[in-house]
Amino acid sequence: MNELANQIALVTGAGRGIGQAIALKLAASGADIVAVDLKPEFLEETVAEVRKLGRQAWAVAANVAEASSVDVAVEQILKDAGRVDILVNNAGITRDGLLMRMSEADWDAVLDINLKGTFLFTKALTRAFLKQRFGRIINIASVIGLMGNAGQANYAASKSGVIGLTKACAKEFASRGITVNAIAPGFIQTAMTDKLTQEQRDAIAKQIPLATLGTANDVAHAVWFFALPASHYITGQVLPVDGGMVM
Ligand SMILES: NC(=O)c1ccc[n+]([C@@H]2O[C@H](COP(=O)([O-])OP(=O)(O)OC[C@H]3O[C@@H](n4cnc5c(N)ncnc54)[C@H](O)[C@@H]3O)[C@@H](O)[C@H]2O)c1
Repeated sequence: MNELANQIALVTGAGRGIGQAIALKLAASGADIVAVDLKPEFLEETVAEVRKLGRQAWAVAANVAEASSVDVAVEQILKDAGRVDILVNNAGITRDGLLMRMSEADWDAVLDINLKGTFLFTKALTRAFLKQRFGRIINIASVIGLMGNAGQANYAASKSGVIGLTKACAKEFASRGITVNAIAPGFIQTAMTDKLTQEQRDAIAKQIPLATLGTANDVAHAVWFFALPASHYITGQVLPVDGGMVM
């Protein structure tokens, strides 16, 4: 139960959904949690639940898409928490639409938060990870980054980008004991997928061999696996958590 004792995990987008489930799963395994979100009010519940598990929690408001916001947040985090051992780049959004009608603003917003946000948080913590010669970086991509999806050109591009970034960082950091892996969730029941119509849901369920949407806890379980000390020999990998959609 305490595989992650004495470790500090930073989770972006930890205010709700998959990010909150990841924070609670890592806390349940003994990690202290730095919970980051754009909306500080979202973080109250996450932080309260982490503390109920007997772990320390820090709530940090930051916009992952803005370098200045990330740098200020990371400086404060390193001062308050002392260090970070596990970084989970989870914050992400969708702005769906057919490419022909997709606005530049919707393209930029998705690329900035999903891809640039992952780059910025990773970069801001790299010096500390290299110095401590240890780190687990776990990026939340998507099966859409592997398969593509009509109406999600921006999202697919951002998540394919996250996968490329994961592999490049895995090669760059491997000699320093830092692993970098990605998880590609399929369709997971959260606020993001609550926007889908029943018709879209039925169409999706038909593509899933296990015939049901996943839960945030299913994704959190995979994050926990990559974070474990015993997973030290796994890097640069992309693990779908998708009920068998991609195989
Ligand atoms: N839900 C799914 O089916 C699914 C499938 C594949 C991948 N994912 C990925 O999982 C991750 C989490 O998705 P979710 O379904 O829990 O979404 P969600 O919308 O429920 O939660 C996302 C969280 O990120 C935060 N956030 C958004 N923009 C931010 C920013 N600029 N800076 C900091 N925080 C920000 C939000 O405030 C929110 O708390 C995303 O990267 C998403 O792309 C989700």
